[in-house]
Amino acid sequence: MATTSALKQVLADTYALSLKTQNYHWNVTGMHFKTLHVMFEEQYDELAEAVDEIAERIRALGVKTPASFSKFSALTTIKDGNEEASARTMLEDLVVGHEHVIAALLHAKTTAAQNNDDVTEDIMIARLNAHQKTLWMLRATLAN
Ligand SMILES: [Fe+2]
Repeated sequence: MATTSALKQVLADTYALSLKTQNYHWNVTGMHFKTLHVMFEEQYDELAEAVDEIAERIRALGVKTPASFSKFSALTTIKDGNEEASARTMLEDLVVGHEHVIAALLHAKTTAAQNNDDVTEDIMIARLNAHQKTLWMLRATLAN
């Protein structure tokens, strides 16, 4: 089913971005350590909750959900985070990651609309709002 395929892509990308954000929560360094450490924790918490909601939407549509590192890494094109990156590069990398998930969400939203699946469309719109808000915060931090 096209909608669940699109949702699996969103799920894998969201999971990969959550893990990358947690990587940066742990490994960020520099003068802004505390601010970024806390901000990244808020962001991966939000993403981890979203992972559960997206996976359970796939199940509600009657399909088994991917749920392993090997399946997620086969689906996603988001690259692993670099533990050695500077704080600025981490922020820039997260901007790219959120833009990537937004593209997957837009595809899933369109596919859901074509299939008259209002509930999935609504979940995708809520996720777009969350990612756009996080992008604002990441970009505002980079602007300092
Ligand atoms: Fe922590």
